[in-house]
Amino acid sequence: MSASKPNWWKASTCYQIWPASYKDSNGDGIGDIVGIISTIPYLKDLGIETIWLSPMYDSPQKDMGYDISNYQDVYPPYGTLADMDRLIKECHDLDMKLVLDLVINHTSDQHAWFLESRRNKTNQYADWYMWRDPKIIQGERHPPNNWASIFGGSAWEYCRERDQYYLHLFVKEQPDLNWENEETRRGIYESAMKFWLDKGIDGFRVDTANLYSKDTSYPDAPILVPGEPYQPAFKYFTNGPRMHEWLQEQRGILDKYGDVFMVGELPDTKADEVLRYISAKSREYSCVFDFDVVMLGQNKEGGSKKHHTHKHTLPHFKEAIRKVQGLLHGTDAWTTVFLENHDQGRSLSRFATDKAIHRDQAAKMLAVLMCCLTGTLFLYQGQEIGMYNHPEYWGIEDLRDIDSLNAYNDVMHRHKGDPLWLKKAMRGLQLVGRDNGRLPVQWDNSANAGFTSGKPWIRVHDDYEHVNVAAQQADPGSPLNFWKKIIRLRKKYADLMIFGKDFQVWDKFDQDVFTFTKVHPDGHERILVFLNFSDEDQPLHYPTGLESVQKELLVCNFEEPGKYLTPWEARVYLIREGVVNGG
Ligand code: GLC
Ligand code: CA
Repeated sequence: MSASKPNWWKASTCYQIWPASYKDSNGDGIGDIVGIISTIPYLKDLGIETIWLSPMYDSPQKDMGYDISNYQDVYPPYGTLADMDRLIKECHDLDMKLVLDLVINHTSDQHAWFLESRRNKTNQYADWYMWRDPKIIQGERHPPNNWASIFGGSAWEYCRERDQYYLHLFVKEQPDLNWENEETRRGIYESAMKFWLDKGIDGFRVDTANLYSKDTSYPDAPILVPGEPYQPAFKYFTNGPRMHEWLQEQRGILDKYGDVFMVGELPDTKADEVLRYISAKSREYSCVFDFDVVMLGQNKEGGSKKHHTHKHTLPHFKEAIRKVQGLLHGTDAWTTVFLENHDQGRSLSRFATDKAIHRDQAAKMLAVLMCCLTGTLFLYQGQEIGMYNHPEYWGIEDLRDIDSLNAYNDVMHRHKGDPLWLKKAMRGLQLVGRDNGRLPVQWDNSANAGFTSGKPWIRVHDDYEHVNVAAQQADPGSPLNFWKKIIRLRKKYADLMIFGKDFQVWDKFDQDVFTFTKVHPDGHERILVFLNFSDEDQPLHYPTGLESVQKELLVCNFEEPGKYLTPWEARVYLIREGVVNGG
């Protein structure tokens, strides 16, 4: 990239689509590509410029498409390759970009490569996955080490044909590819990447983007959870020794296609390590999704037990945001802004409030927060209308996610069905369970929220008659119309809102209000943002020196901003004087 041509993806407003739950066009109860195509004008009108489509590849759907059996084909209920060609074209015709999910840490166990690999130790694909001999203890066969799978149980599965185990960091139907093998890497680049880049897509969201390189001496992990046979082993497979080498190799492939956007999913990584992936100089990822905000209240060390999730405090939330904004301070890196995706509870329920009286106000407040942060902005389907978590009275039979079901069954098994334990398990899932983000998008108040004319594959949120696109389109004061307005404002004040620097929090320890400033790259203007994260009126926390300077109100989610911040109020002021240079 020449220095004079800015990367298109920095200021692009992105929207993630989870195909199964977005829009069904043919009444089979499952969202599809034709359904997506029918809503492109809606997205365009909202101000969306880039669509990130979650996996639509052929798959046995053990993990909702993150288990791919053929990179070069489409899951039939979602559509065909021809539908994908049309989707690409329709996006480009409206001057929008399309980004696909790139799932290359593992494949499905039904992928042709794995079916061949598992047959014996001598076939052409024998070394394409992570195979290891059993550990024999007192004549008995055991997995090669004690690593736990991220989705529970051992990370190893035995295969009789080879008398060996294969590694799977996720479910056993998701065997990990052997990136150490150069031929495997070439195969991945050809099949998963070039095939789609040749069709004209504009980039990838990279799944589990820092897990390819493992500690291939496979040491036992230290005991973090006493009494458990399998232990969390993140440090042996996260940010491993060859990650950067391979990503640079991969960039060599991408370069032939121009400015390809690569946004990596980057769990569990400290700031200085994150920078290695996203510095413009290293040319690895364009930017990444840091997990600091979405992991708040979740305990990974303990083996990611969802029933131990607790509600974080506002100071924790501010600190997580500060870390990510801080990545840009004095560096050549770029970052993302997001509060939701298909792996998380809804942001209203997790970070604000889903109480009916404050919900719309809170949804608009979070919109202000996001639009004022520096980085590439990502909305998740339904976020624009303030979709929130499923009610507490839903039962396990309403859930579909393998991770949630595993977590529930684990509690069930350990505590022999004890009702209080099961209640605790459900409470955790109600807050952070992945199905919260996977409920059908609420398009209107007709049956099944207008998502399908058939029987939806997962239960529709009970509140769809109140929260839906059609109702909000008709209401000028709705979260949807507010998003439209503020996305445009973000573009208008791009230098401050998208590219502003020196993010600074002014009330680090306050439990109710979040006040921050950002400075124009030229240093002559700044924005001052007040956000009330409480159900009560709150005083304004003016940064020292800014109490009485001239300021212009850019946006507020309340009609008449007064002396105090009303519950869940957000205000943004533009200040043209008093900026301390280099601050
Ligand atoms: C990522 C995806 C998640 C999936 C996992 C395994 O974390 O976002 O949905 O289950 O990788 O591919
Ligand atoms: Ca369908």
